[in-house]
Amino acid sequence: MNKAGISIGGLAAGAAAVTVFLHWQNNGVRTSRYVYSDHRLPQGFKGFKILHISDYHNSRQMHRKIINLSRAEGADITAITGDLFDCRRTDVAAGLALVKDLVKIAPVYYVTGNHESKIENIAAIKEEISRLGVNIIEDKKIRLERNGDAITLMGVQDPRFYIDENDEKRDRHIFRNHLLNFTKGDDSFKVLLSHRPEFIHTYRDSGIALALTGHAHGGQFSIPFTDIGVFVPNQGLFPPYAAGMKKLDGTTMIISRGIGNSVFPFRLFNRPEIVTVEFE
Ligand SMILES: [Fe+2]
Repeated sequence: MNKAGISIGGLAAGAAAVTVFLHWQNNGVRTSRYVYSDHRLPQGFKGFKILHISDYHNSRQMHRKIINLSRAEGADITAITGDLFDCRRTDVAAGLALVKDLVKIAPVYYVTGNHESKIENIAAIKEEISRLGVNIIEDKKIRLERNGDAITLMGVQDPRFYIDENDEKRDRHIFRNHLLNFTKGDDSFKVLLSHRPEFIHTYRDSGIALALTGHAHGGQFSIPFTDIGVFVPNQGLFPPYAAGMKKLDGTTMIISRGIGNSVFPFRLFNRPEIVTVEFE
């Protein structure tokens, strides 16, 4: 083999390796596990485990892997925090198929994201989701009981359902008033499902102990081995809330990197994930 032959062969092998790596970065779903401690947690909930799935964006190619990983976790409940469907290339059947399999694993609780707000027949889709056995807990509180103790599981609808596009100031103001009213006078231990991580100050001011969120897609590109992402909608460049577990005073927030993509169709050092949160 001459030098040119070796060089072309080497280039082809390199290109193949890069292709495999990029496919893995965008389709290789992993499980991220967090342990959550809080001195206010009722004793009966020690060991309680939540499976958290966000931003599926009807990524049907990852369905089987998600279900297999989810089954292996043995969580007590599953929380879905929005963008189950993508509004740009909506595949309702893919989202429904995922929840149909998830309800066989553990009780499923769901809130919408900004993408659902733009899907025309979302009301009918939500009816179908309910019919499949999913608990839609937007602007609802559920009392969860375990070993004689109780906590509150609650959810909020994405503000894009009631606020025009690109009015972030108004988003924050209305969402804040809504959640403060919703939690007023409630001193129970509150776990919130909400699509948006950028509202962490409102979660803190509303007395939320633990908030599960998504929306950020990990910032699309992440600095390797960190939770630092490059860009997140509603937060901008190198934002504070792209992925991982964050704390603000008495509030802990988990931000899922999510499963799928939307406007920007590509991830790097930011693999799709399902998340588990175990209480200790
Ligand atoms: Fe999303």
